[in-house]
Amino acid sequence: MTDPRTLAGRRVLLIVAGGIAAYKALELIRLVTGQGGSVQCVLTEAGARFVTPLSLQALSGAEVRTDLFSLSLESEMGHIALSRAADLLVVCPATADLMAAMATGRAHDLATTLLLATDTPVLIAPAMNVRMWDHPATQANLATLKARGVHVVGPDEGVMACNEFGFGRLSEPPAIVAQIASLLAPAPQPLAGRHALVTAGPTHEPIDPVRYIANRSSGQQGYAVAAALRVLGARVTLVSGPTTLAAPPGVERVEVETAWQMLAACRDALPADVAVCTAAVADWHVTPTPTKIKKTPGGTPPTLILADNPDILAELSQPSARRPTLVVGFAAETNDVIAHATAKRARKGCDWIVANDVRAETGIMGGQDNEVTLITPDGAETWPRQPKTQVAAGLAARIADMLAGCSPLSPRTPEPR
Ligand code: C5P
Repeated sequence: MTDPRTLAGRRVLLIVAGGIAAYKALELIRLVTGQGGSVQCVLTEAGARFVTPLSLQALSGAEVRTDLFSLSLESEMGHIALSRAADLLVVCPATADLMAAMATGRAHDLATTLLLATDTPVLIAPAMNVRMWDHPATQANLATLKARGVHVVGPDEGVMACNEFGFGRLSEPPAIVAQIASLLAPAPQPLAGRHALVTAGPTHEPIDPVRYIANRSSGQQGYAVAAALRVLGARVTLVSGPTTLAAPPGVERVEVETAWQMLAACRDALPADVAVCTAAVADWHVTPTPTKIKKTPGGTPPTLILADNPDILAELSQPSARRPTLVVGFAAETNDVIAHATAKRARKGCDWIVANDVRAETGIMGGQDNEVTLITPDGAETWPRQPKTQVAAGLAARIADMLAGCSPLSPRTPEPR
């Protein structure tokens, strides 16, 4: 038997579009509120031809929104805030037209504007004539939406209102509400109560007030690792060199410029249960001049005297009372990847190394995918080529498994290698 309060405290924004199945949205509202959830309805102009705002309002207990340009409501709650106030956007029924608008990013009414402006998960329940459903245009739109992470329930097969038979019937409301409940079920958070420190991005080493030495790191893999650890419930401190990336939701970002600043920020962030060093830290710095170095016509070009930067990964790996339980480094190699990365693990004193082959022909540097080998005291394990976000999710899951046996914030002497 389902828990009658499965949706307690969860907020659904229900978009009702114009199809003969729109009347089933009324049953859906009853089921969601019956399980303790709240529903705010948005009705499209076409949807209002099939169900009335009054019926939706009576069942949901909330004023139904229909108008993108409603001045009174706009001043109280902007249309963007409307979608942010929900835990899930549900489109029921999702017509062929609304799916096309979503796939092409149109924002011509309140429903499409909300769908374009939201970063909240979206579930669509398509319903339409079987030929419209089978049409390559609808199928292409469906594939686009799925690829963007939109969840889909149905349609079911059966007799339609137009007396044709096939796929296109709206899923029954209990099936839709079951999907809503599974999407809103709290994700397992094995890293809750843990603190993760992640370094990411390049460092910039100033030469004078206007010039600096840098590298091509984008920070993407490190930001993905920070996001993945956060999703598993960790408190995450992301110490980042200069990048163009937005901080992942819920992650505390400390922005630094130089290697020395990165080291200081890492020391400040300790203690941590796990440290993952993905940053491309510059190997050297220059002692910067306080004023801009002038170019004198015919003069001798200046000589840059380089000095070593601190090795942040090696310092975090040093046995000490503040050593994180698990220290993970990254190694970008162009040949003999496993041998070099294994040697690097020993040299730096870290527990694990994530190694990858960054030869130009692999397309990994600057690309979306990565193919990594995880090197641990137990040996080397090569993972299949996959998006960098999935590499991050896989690594976060392994970190959670490893920490499961350790009490929070317990320093550990690294195993002999
Ligand atoms: O020595 P190499 O740069 O190849 O080592 C790569 C690993 O060491 C990465 O995890 C990187 O974040 C870390 N590292 C560091 N501080 C440095 C140099 C590298 O933390 N100064």
